[in-house]
Amino acid sequence: MFEHIDAYPGDPILSLNESFQQDPRTDKVNLSIGIYFDDEGRLPVMQAVAEAETALLADLGPRPYLPMAGFAAYRDAVQALVFGEQCQARAQGRISTVQTLGGSGALRVGADFLKRYFPQAQVWISDPSWENHRVIFERTGFTVNTYPYYDDATGGLKFDAMLDALRVIPKRSIVLLHACCHNPTGVDLNHDQWRQLIALLKANELLPFVDMAYQGFGAGLEDDAFAVRELVVQGVPCLVANSFSKNFSLYGERCGGLSVVSESADEAGRILGQLTGAVRANYSNPPTHGAKVVARVLTSADLRARWESELAAMCERIAKMRAAIHDSLRDHVSGEALSRYLTQRGMFTYTGLTAEQVDRLRAEYGVYLLRSGRMCVAGLNGHNVSQVANAIASVLAAAGE
Ligand code: LMR
Repeated sequence: MFEHIDAYPGDPILSLNESFQQDPRTDKVNLSIGIYFDDEGRLPVMQAVAEAETALLADLGPRPYLPMAGFAAYRDAVQALVFGEQCQARAQGRISTVQTLGGSGALRVGADFLKRYFPQAQVWISDPSWENHRVIFERTGFTVNTYPYYDDATGGLKFDAMLDALRVIPKRSIVLLHACCHNPTGVDLNHDQWRQLIALLKANELLPFVDMAYQGFGAGLEDDAFAVRELVVQGVPCLVANSFSKNFSLYGERCGGLSVVSESADEAGRILGQLTGAVRANYSNPPTHGAKVVARVLTSADLRARWESELAAMCERIAKMRAAIHDSLRDHVSGEALSRYLTQRGMFTYTGLTAEQVDRLRAEYGVYLLRSGRMCVAGLNGHNVSQVANAIASVLAAAGE
C-alpha cells in the first residue's frame, strides 16, 4: 500500500535543529533556528508569562472547545497589538482576526482562504525568503515566484529591482512581505521605501500578505508594525500573519493570528466566516492555554509593562551580541561583510558564508548555521561568541588558502 511513499528530505531549519540536538559534542553552538536564547544559552521563560500562568493555574476551569475563530479576548488583543489601539479600520469592524497555530498556521489558513477566492492568482515571495513560505503556498496549490530583494554585493536591499518586478505582475497577485526583521537576511525597508511600495501595491491592485513573526525585535513594537499600519491607513486590503512564538518565548504553545483587512464591516463578517471555515477544515478549533496567557499579559497593565521591558532587554542583548561578533571578526572580515553584523536587524544575519563553509563550521567546530549562510545571532552569548568567531575565522582562512 505504501511502497510508493518516498523519504521526506527534511526541513532545512527544523531538521538541522534536530541534528543539533543529537550532536554529542558539549561545546556545540546552535545558531540555526530562529529561537532567542539568553546569555546562559537557555530558552527563557518570561516573567510576565510565568505570572500569567500562575494566575491561570489558580483559576483552572473546565476546558470546552474554543470557538473555531479562537479565544475572543486573544483575538482582540492581537488586533490591538498588530494594528494599534486607535486603528480606525478596527473601530469600523473592518478587520477579521482568527487565532491560529503560530505564524505558520496563520499562513496556511490564509493560503487556504486565498486559494478558494483567488484561485488564479500566483504568489510572489522575496528572494530569498523563509523556506517555509514557498512550501506552504505550493502545498496549497499556488505557483510561487520570487521578486528581487537581497543584494549580495552590498548586503542590503535591491529596492529598485524589487519595485520593477512587482510593477509588471498581474493584478490581484499575492505579494508576501516581511513586516520587520526579514527572515533570513535581516534587511528591512525603511519608512520611505514602504510608502513607495505601498503606493505601487495600491495602484496595481496587488494583494499583500504580511508576515510579522518578529514584532518587537527590530525597532520596537510600534515601529515594527509600520508597514502593516501604513497599508491600513492607505486603504490597501491585506492579510497579516502574526506570531507570539518569539516575542513571548512561547514557541511550543503555537500562538498566532491571521487578520484580514477589508473595505467594509459587512465584507469583514463574511471573511471571518470563511476563515473559521478554513480553520474547521484544518483542525476545527485552536488550543486554549497559550491564548489565555497571551491575552492576560497583553490586557493587564502591570504584566504588559513587564513583558515590554523583558522584550526590550532581549533586543538589547541581541544588539550586544551583534557588536561582540562584529568586533571579534574585525581581524578576519572587512567592509560590508563585517558591518552587516551591525546593520542587519532582528534575530538574523546573512553572513555570506557559503554552504560548504557552513558545512565545515558544523562538521569541524560544532557551530550550526543554516546552509544559506543565515546566522541566528540570538543564539550567541558571552560564553560562545569568541568560539564562533574563531571557528568562522578558521573556515575563512582555509577557504582563502
Ligand atoms: C526560523 O526561521 O528559524 C523559525 O521561524 C523557526 C521555523 O519554524 O522555521
